[in-house]
Amino acid sequence: MCGIIGYVGQRPCRDILFRGLRKLEYRGYDSAGISIVTDGRFQLLHSVGNLDNLEAILEQLDDGGTLGIAHTRWATHGRPSTENAHPHTDCTGRFAIVLNGIVENYLSLRAMLKGEGHTFTSETDAEVVAHLIERAYRGSLQKAVAEAYQQMEGHFTYCAVAVDEPDVMVGMRRETPLVVGLGQGENFLASAVPAFLAETRAVIFPEDGDVVVVRRDGVQIFALDGASVERAVQRVDWDEEAAEKAGYETFMLKEIHEQPAALADTLAERISPEGGVVLEGLGLGPEDIRGLRRVVIVACGTSYHAGLVGSHALERWARLPAEVEVASEFRYRDPVLGPDCLCVAISQSGETADTLAAMRLARKAGARVLAVTNIVGSQATREADGVLFTRAGLEIGVAATKTFLSQVLAMLLLALHLGEERGVLSGEEVQTYTEGLRRIPALLSDYLEGAEPARVEEAARRYSTSRFFMCLGRRVGLPVALEGALKLKEISYIPTEAYAAGEMKHGPIALLEKGSPVLVVATDGPVYDKLISNVQEVIARGARVIAVASEGNEALAEMADEIFYVPRTEEMFAPLLAIVPLQLFAYYVATARGEKVDQPRNLAKTVTVE
Ligand code: F6R
Repeated sequence: MCGIIGYVGQRPCRDILFRGLRKLEYRGYDSAGISIVTDGRFQLLHSVGNLDNLEAILEQLDDGGTLGIAHTRWATHGRPSTENAHPHTDCTGRFAIVLNGIVENYLSLRAMLKGEGHTFTSETDAEVVAHLIERAYRGSLQKAVAEAYQQMEGHFTYCAVAVDEPDVMVGMRRETPLVVGLGQGENFLASAVPAFLAETRAVIFPEDGDVVVVRRDGVQIFALDGASVERAVQRVDWDEEAAEKAGYETFMLKEIHEQPAALADTLAERISPEGGVVLEGLGLGPEDIRGLRRVVIVACGTSYHAGLVGSHALERWARLPAEVEVASEFRYRDPVLGPDCLCVAISQSGETADTLAAMRLARKAGARVLAVTNIVGSQATREADGVLFTRAGLEIGVAATKTFLSQVLAMLLLALHLGEERGVLSGEEVQTYTEGLRRIPALLSDYLEGAEPARVEEAARRYSTSRFFMCLGRRVGLPVALEGALKLKEISYIPTEAYAAGEMKHGPIALLEKGSPVLVVATDGPVYDKLISNVQEVIARGARVIAVASEGNEALAEMADEIFYVPRTEEMFAPLLAIVPLQLFAYYVATARGEKVDQPRNLAKTVTVE
């Protein structure tokens, strides 16, 4: 969690750093700060709350310095306050640092440093880094940063500057992201590429333990023992426009409308002219695939819901037993796995701490690990045996939308691929499915441009004062209901239960009273009739039914209070369409209530802490 950016160059850096922070605000926004080196000292500025508060006082920094670091925080150790906001400095005021992640042994380090006479001004784990550097400094920031690194346990990225070396910043990472941006006569360090995308597209992704020494005229990378290390320079092709709202009122709404493109990009080059599924980089040969006996899917939040859809597809198309487990639970189990088990870790960021830990556990227990992620160069891609990229593009809204659809699609493609390789599906069957999949982006695009979204908006505004929602579904409709409920919870803050419709009568139906709004995912499928019986049970309790149904389903329109139609498709593809009215419903309920949907309270886009 947290976003960091550092600049060294020839231009005054205050505003460059602030603009970089704006692009990283999705990583956390409970406090922020900037430190700039001018005239042999640090100018420091801290604020509590989101970046508007820092912007309001930015003029307090004189804009002369050309070396600086900045941070936007998501609190882990220590409440959001100016004292706990980064950058942190040492006792002498000669070193400043920003950190993302957690220093797990900070209590023992703090005790040791206090014993030696260091004084602390914050409650954070991060502050120990400044003091460790102070303690280790003997004329070389590079060496002091490397020495501090070796004393720390945990997963973190940090960037340090020293007043005595006003032309250099040094960054290091362990299991959390750090990228270098290479400019002309200026260079950047950051948690993520968007921070400096307006300035340069040439980037380096350092490895864990690399000591990255950044000066205005060049970047050198060293191993911990001081040996020089070469890392490739890559070009990123995102344009800056992609990181802006492109005319939509929020990133979330923009990203909902980008879903057809996200699906088309995720499909691109993955369907052969003959209609087969082509997936490169899985790290699984035909023999490995035939030898698989089981799939375990690990993920968190929205990615977990994509995994649930994937498990249905893997069972149906590849005849592989597929379990799905939330990564934060799986990581503390003692799972029975082996080389015939494939662990699929789904994470849009590729940086979620629990998912990474689950991957490591699965690998240790002997399973092969496949990462399904949206971020090239993310930690998950470095640790997995194979990677299946979703190609949703950058997602900035904290509530996942287009990455969910891309994850579901990636899992469907994986299931089809494994099904064909294992001889469960014939080439013709796969072709029929891929033809269907190819049509989905256009169907979704027509849907989003049609009249339905406005109907959803109108209904959402009417229901926006509800105190409670229930979401129901069965088979692949259940993950859709769970995901719709998560959207409502995280952006509208309205308590929402999601349940397997058949399970209602075992308890949750007691929650319903006259007028309770119940969202039902009722697209066509083999248990549609059973679901309708559940709908009747709900209606009998006086609840109001808001149904998502396949277009043309007039019988359900008679029964339901509201009906949102989506195009009719093969059951397994339905989640790609049925979730969209629920995303829009949650969106418009939240905006009608005046909530800031791109930055829901207490949440962050990338969860790099346990
Ligand atoms: C909800 C949401 C989260 C993430 C979860 C996992 O809208 O975005 O529930 O899905 O934090 O994140 P990733 O996929 O990055 O591992």
